[in-house]
Amino acid sequence: MIDLVIRHINLPDGTRDVDIAINGGRIVEIGPHLAVKGRQEESHPGCLATPPFVDSHFHMDAALSLGQPRLNQSGTLLEGIRLWNELKPELTVEAIKQRALELCQWSIVRGTLAIRSHVDICDDRLLAVEALLEVRQMMKPYLDLQLVAFPQDGYFRCANAAQNLRRALDKGVDVVGGIPHFERTMAEGARSIRALCELAAERGLRVDMHCDESDDPLSRHIETLTYETQRLGLQGRVTGSHLTSMHSMDNYYVSKLLPLMREADIQVVANPLINITLQGRHDDYPKRRGMTRVKELMQAGVNVAFGHDCVMDPWYSLGSHDMLEVAHMGLHVGQLTGVDEMRRAFAAVTTNGARALGLDDYGLEAGKPADLVILQAANPIEALRLRPQRLLVIRHGQIIARTAPAVPELLLQEGTQPVDFSRDLL
Ligand code: FE2
Repeated sequence: MIDLVIRHINLPDGTRDVDIAINGGRIVEIGPHLAVKGRQEESHPGCLATPPFVDSHFHMDAALSLGQPRLNQSGTLLEGIRLWNELKPELTVEAIKQRALELCQWSIVRGTLAIRSHVDICDDRLLAVEALLEVRQMMKPYLDLQLVAFPQDGYFRCANAAQNLRRALDKGVDVVGGIPHFERTMAEGARSIRALCELAAERGLRVDMHCDESDDPLSRHIETLTYETQRLGLQGRVTGSHLTSMHSMDNYYVSKLLPLMREADIQVVANPLINITLQGRHDDYPKRRGMTRVKELMQAGVNVAFGHDCVMDPWYSLGSHDMLEVAHMGLHVGQLTGVDEMRRAFAAVTTNGARALGLDDYGLEAGKPADLVILQAANPIEALRLRPQRLLVIRHGQIIARTAPAVPELLLQEGTQPVDFSRDLL
């Protein structure tokens, strides 16, 4: 007898009708008709098992603060930053913790079990750092939370940011953040990248910067970030988040940039829901979309993941922390409608995210931790189309969330008729 067997499920690589045997918190075997008996057995014929969703870019310190102290009337990035600065003096550790813990509950039932959250370190009290370090510890049995020391008001532009960022890392924050396009000049932005990458190299940490989050075609901090990654030997450990300026850059310049990014193994995180709503705001028509060049980056062999970025905060009033909603938007905005491209959109919220975060133990394979989600969909493309129920969410072999399958019924004069949206074609 082993702990748990899940029967008759599909895998993201197209494998059909296999069983997953789980014991001691790990996957012990995956294959057709396994001759093992589970103390607990689950059968979900034709449903997809996926490794958990990964949110590669989030702001948990601001999540669910919508309306505090007021709503963002213009819906713009800059009013959002002003609003966040109005809210900051009112924050308490307890309030941040409560909002973050509630957000984690939303994440878990949606099947998101790994989140990289930036945490603003510009407030000298470091309340958000204290709160989220506690949340990281409390949520450890359920999800992996990585924290990035994020100087929201600028590493050089904000008086105590350099000192606060080091204090945050000393307390146990995992990753070095930055925001070069928000420094006072382009040169100061470049200088901040150099200083922050050197700090990360010294401490053996990863880097994840908000980089070129603007519509400025000449914002080229990604070039500097790529250069410093190469110079300091940080290949594969540095993430450029947003990179929206790449949308507007000159095509010749991008043709030079992409191979350099590939060479430095830069990890890219696009945030489709937020980029599509916050960028292009200074345009009349035609209006730029403002999402980075996801398709071209993927074609160049660069690892691209998607993040949710915001849920009900000063920058974005919507969202329920559903990474399938993010991938759905990313697929549409990036025109990722080729069959392989749609699969890559699914990978952008699963395997690509795990790679960006450096999650070594991730994936559905014998020997790995039994972390997985069963979806009411036959394959990844159907999952993107339907954004279906997360029937089971499993962490270290334990079922930690369950949602009943959706079975809509049409009530006709002739009687009740179930409606089935599934079309397992791709
Ligand atoms: Fe962000």
